[in-house]
Amino acid sequence: MNKEKSELDLSKLPFMDINLDLESRVEDLLERLTLEEKFILCSGRKWWYTKPIKRLGIRSFAMHDGPHGVRVDNEGKIKSTYFPSAICRTATWNLDLSEKFGVAIGQEIREVGAHMLLAPGINIHRTPMCGRTFEYQTEDPYLNKKSAVAVVRGVQSQRVAACIKHFICNNQETNRFTVSSEVSERALQEIYYPAFKAAVQEADAWSVMSCYNKLNGIYGAENKHLLKEVLMNEWEFRGFVVTDWAATRWGTTTESCVNAGLTLEMPTAIKYDISKMSKAYKAGKFTLETFNENVKRLLRVMFLVGLFDDENTLPKCSRNTPEHQALARGIAEEGIVLLKNKGDLLPLDLEKVKKIAAIGPTANKRTYLGGGSSSNFPPYEVKPIEGIKEKCKEQVEIITTPSEADLTLLFVGLRHKEGGDAEQWDKDLFSLPSSQIELINKTIEENPNTIVILTSGSPVSMVEWIDKVPAVVQAWYGGMEAGNAIAAIIFGDVNPSGKLPITFPKKLSDSPAHASERTYPGSEKVFYEEGIFVGYRHFETQNIEPLFPFGHGLSYTKFTYESLEIGKDKVSGDEGLNITLEITNSGEVFGAEVVQLYIQDVECSVERPFKELKGFEKVKLKPNEKKTIKFELRKEDLSFFDEKDNCWKAEKGIFNILIGSSSRDIRLQGEIEYLG
Ligand code: BGC
Repeated sequence: MNKEKSELDLSKLPFMDINLDLESRVEDLLERLTLEEKFILCSGRKWWYTKPIKRLGIRSFAMHDGPHGVRVDNEGKIKSTYFPSAICRTATWNLDLSEKFGVAIGQEIREVGAHMLLAPGINIHRTPMCGRTFEYQTEDPYLNKKSAVAVVRGVQSQRVAACIKHFICNNQETNRFTVSSEVSERALQEIYYPAFKAAVQEADAWSVMSCYNKLNGIYGAENKHLLKEVLMNEWEFRGFVVTDWAATRWGTTTESCVNAGLTLEMPTAIKYDISKMSKAYKAGKFTLETFNENVKRLLRVMFLVGLFDDENTLPKCSRNTPEHQALARGIAEEGIVLLKNKGDLLPLDLEKVKKIAAIGPTANKRTYLGGGSSSNFPPYEVKPIEGIKEKCKEQVEIITTPSEADLTLLFVGLRHKEGGDAEQWDKDLFSLPSSQIELINKTIEENPNTIVILTSGSPVSMVEWIDKVPAVVQAWYGGMEAGNAIAAIIFGDVNPSGKLPITFPKKLSDSPAHASERTYPGSEKVFYEEGIFVGYRHFETQNIEPLFPFGHGLSYTKFTYESLEIGKDKVSGDEGLNITLEITNSGEVFGAEVVQLYIQDVECSVERPFKELKGFEKVKLKPNEKKTIKFELRKEDLSFFDEKDNCWKAEKGIFNILIGSSSRDIRLQGEIEYLG
């Protein structure tokens, strides 16, 4: 009777009124909380949950990893769709797929009763040695922001919070708990911030996870400049900041976190232990106003995800559906990159090939244990060899001796484990393990028609073997449908259209972060001395030929680029500039191309990269089909961050507009003059 009465009373409180505006609901609930209850709300329990406040009907707010599927536990008791890794999804350059992925994973999060997804991971690929390269999207800030916005929009369309991570400059795993990333303001503004900023401003991301590392000497979770000034004041972030798991262990004080604007400490109380909070508060180390602001942010997101709403009014949830599995396959098919295809060895013709040797250490390996918090537990995973066998059944004999086969499919690559593609450690080798290099060389001697299929979430060196091998397919970690996707590409059911979101250097020392021990891995500090010259910005400016450039990816058809038209030859102020071109599928099969637009500032008072991506479009074309592609450039696309005046600027002068099929395969070129 009493219980019923209290429930009845609660439902009549203003914060429960769905017709009241959000901020009034937040204020009302905040006022009803005691100081101690607020302290309780600000740290987690049982790894994924906040503590409930039963008195006011505040349930636990639940969150789960991760970037490629919902991970509820470490034993896989709860299965979920295992999507391709983020680098593979980004290699699709298909924003619609990124958004659909967001929708699907949002539905799965909701289905397990949670409210927030701990993803996407949007740290920039600064070095190919970072153990989490597979979990992050790209080396390019423009592609990064477009892809991040799409995922966040998708997730949050399901009234599930996306948590963009790890803010910021967690670009290596070596010493991640203690290292200070020493980064210039210009590099932050031009390279590392844009995806976070766009996810906040364009997609209204409801949560941000701070990083383990320090930025310029201050830990992410207590970095007032980063959280309060940049994220909250400048970008107008309205959600809450959560720590990376146990990150506060390495920080300084309770008050430094509260004053920086950190709301939630996970997975358990360290700095936000109630007694530490009370002590700091009583000692006047932080004000009630500041603390209330932090709490309000969490309450706001609780309302946004519908924590107090009738479940029946929330978006429909689902998990492990055939639709989600088909989406996982679709992403893998579009994300796989055909790196090399000498003599058009691929696609294979099932009618002509009689015997295929399918060998190699990754042919029969699952990949779902994603090296840390990206691990997944799917109901099944199609391994590469299974996909190939399924495709070939009754038509082609699959053997294991290259010398007796028409062709060899050689599966090599990395694993999600220490020293490979895994959280917590960087890779220990840039090349493949020596046993695999030996295997490639031996196989190619036995059978020159050898196609190397690489399973890895990061670039590997190929110099020892690339010239001998006619065809190479970068298959990444393709999720639970990887085997089927690889088979579809190999046999031409799907025409490859993935493009590299990261440069593949010939050797590690070509890579900008690898100038010295100071620049990588550093010790207490790691100096980002390359500044804005990350990835292809460095390779292009220094004219260093990479093994495979950013934006590269072959197709089974050909595309003709023509009729570039630039709306005006002079632009001023913030007026938009329209650019059009025509693209034709001039080959014989259906295919998709990613048309890329780069700008080049011909003369500038500061050094600028030789090329900067400022637009792209993925277009699907039947043979002989032609389409017009439109881009619009604005002042912000011509701008750089001027450290002297601490603002973005576009300088007067000539800008080249470069349109191409990769960063090094420019097909059309024009110029404009910016008049200021
Ligand atoms: C990782 C985060 C992850 C968290 C929870 C941390 O170690 O860095 O990305 O979301 O654990 O599993």
